[in-house]
Amino acid sequence: MKQLGEMLQRFDRELEARRVLPPSDDLLSRMVHSEAMGQLPPLERLANIALLIVAGNDTTRNSISGLVEALHLYPEELEKLRADPTLSTNASQEIIRWQSPVTHMRRTATADVEVGGQLIRQGEKIVMWYISGNRDESVFPNAERFDVTRENARRHIAFGHGIHRCVGARLAEVQIAAVIDEIVSRRLRVVPVGAPERLASPFLHGFNAMPVRLEQD
Ligand code: HEM
Repeated sequence: MKQLGEMLQRFDRELEARRVLPPSDDLLSRMVHSEAMGQLPPLERLANIALLIVAGNDTTRNSISGLVEALHLYPEELEKLRADPTLSTNASQEIIRWQSPVTHMRRTATADVEVGGQLIRQGEKIVMWYISGNRDESVFPNAERFDVTRENARRHIAFGHGIHRCVGARLAEVQIAAVIDEIVSRRLRVVPVGAPERLASPFLHGFNAMPVRLEQD
């Protein structure tokens, strides 16, 4: 909480500095000059900023580290990408499925509903394990395998579903595809040089550290 408080103060300073300047094209300037977000109460301001930081950083970062691990486990997938660089778009979807950096969200049922033979009553809270759905063998055969040519990779649910589906989904896909494009066009191999240090979190599926060496061929 102390760190969150410090973060809020820091962002408040950044926001106020921009409030007195003409609107510009950076995110905080856009926030502070917008009708919807210019005057948020502190808790909402903090929630929105924290959301952007966690949602826009931990997710793509851990997907990219996951990519390093996946290409290490399945080196032939890099060869497929090198043979056909247009696969990077699909590979981006596939690594988001395979890694599923946000493991779950919770919802409260607004009505009685039956899912997979299980009755969920109105008002009950449920946890939606995206990471489990993304390993559903009835949808993704050989689900544990990272496969850049997987035909239905984009059917993954790592971005959630419905009205709150990730607002940054396209940005994330484009960003990760750009990393893959660079690895391929520069003929890089990102080689792990030690076991990755995994993040102990039930919410984020990711890494604290992933030591690597870059090789070029
Ligand atoms: C691989 C990358 C990403 C994954 C797997 C991911 C996953 C998710 C998930 C699971 C949700 C919740 C969906 C729900 O509650 O139904 C979400 C929401 C959100 N994400 Fe992402 N995200 C990613 C990248 C990003 C990026 C790059 C940004 C912004 C720069 C972003 C911003 C947000 C925001 C603002 C929300 C809240 C949307 C709302 O509640 O209406 N995300 N994301």
